[in-house]
Amino acid sequence: MRATRSLPLALTLTLALTACGGSALSDGGGGGGDDDSVKIALLVPQSGVYAPLGKDMEAGFRLYLDQHDNQLGGKKVELTVVDEGGGPEDGVPAGTKLAQDESVDAVVGVVNSATALGLVDTFAEAKKPLIIGNAGADDITGKESSPYVWRTSFANGEVGAAIGEKVAEEVGDGKVYLVGPDYAAGKEFLAGFKSSFEKAGGKIAGTQMTPFGKTTNFQPYLQKVRNAKPKAVFAFYAGSEAVTFVKQYDQLGLHKDIPFYGTGFLTEGGALTAQGKSADGIFTSLHYSSELDNETNAAFVKDYSAKNDGKPTVYSVQAYDAGAVLDKALEEGTGGDQIVEGLKAAGEIDSPRGPWSFSDEQGPDQTYYLRKVEQKDGAWSNVVEGDLTKPTS
Ligand code: BEZ
Repeated sequence: MRATRSLPLALTLTLALTACGGSALSDGGGGGGDDDSVKIALLVPQSGVYAPLGKDMEAGFRLYLDQHDNQLGGKKVELTVVDEGGGPEDGVPAGTKLAQDESVDAVVGVVNSATALGLVDTFAEAKKPLIIGNAGADDITGKESSPYVWRTSFANGEVGAAIGEKVAEEVGDGKVYLVGPDYAAGKEFLAGFKSSFEKAGGKIAGTQMTPFGKTTNFQPYLQKVRNAKPKAVFAFYAGSEAVTFVKQYDQLGLHKDIPFYGTGFLTEGGALTAQGKSADGIFTSLHYSSELDNETNAAFVKDYSAKNDGKPTVYSVQAYDAGAVLDKALEEGTGGDQIVEGLKAAGEIDSPRGPWSFSDEQGPDQTYYLRKVEQKDGAWSNVVEGDLTKPTS
């Protein structure tokens, strides 16, 4: 914890010089030091359509701490969990409070892209590290990037783009209809898909954006999809919206007629359990599946399942990996600039998703997988069909 922050400047400098041989002087984070404890805040939704995602992230982060004697970078962790709420109206004030709380050394989490976009400048001004454990807004590791904001998840456009070529091959001359929630993430997932799909010769039949967080009846939108007679549908939804959309797609009889593709959030974790047979055969792109066949994932799935109800999800892995990168980074110290230096030097992460490392844009350089919903050992699962070609921009 940043115990020295509220001390007068002269005393802080004296203590820093005495204790650290001057290294803390370079810490632009406004304090920090080499204390033996650190305070981390986990900002995840505990309410709204993305509450199940927040639960999985908390479970993933806690598993990393449990496996590492509740320490990161050799420092004892004090963890506080704060509700991100349903959207930026709740998440931005909650995150701002944490950015300005001098007792908090770093923040992990944030599910919603609009919330994340609303927090970048605040964390940059506070010089406090924010490790985004989900929100994929493209600009965060692009136009809006900040040295203090890092990401262990993905960029929205990349996940959509990863499956574009595959869908173009499947539909041939046919057109594809795009559907998603009307906010930053929905638009970027669809745009990413559209760019690689069109580059591979695909044609778009139409696009429907549905009001985010409020739509429980998708029938009017699905009717428009049916009327357009597309060869396939591509969608992004997550959490409870994913459950409702996939079930209604099936109830209206579209599933048997129109092949269904999406980003993997559509059929992830508890959403797939609730969708059951209505999700059968959906193809998705994602950087994780609990069914991935590698040693790190086998151990992770075993440990996670022993402590939680069900297998881990992409959300659990992204938060687990946020623990892994902070573990390395906090070896440098607990000040903002020290953590940032540690993140720059993090190197390869041996993750359940497969090995990855930070790109120059401070997000993961990682593999995307093609997954298909099938029954496996009596449960609906995202079976891995293979790697997807890395999209070129
Ligand atoms: C987002 O808002 O960036 C997002 C939310 C849920 C799943 C994936 C992305």
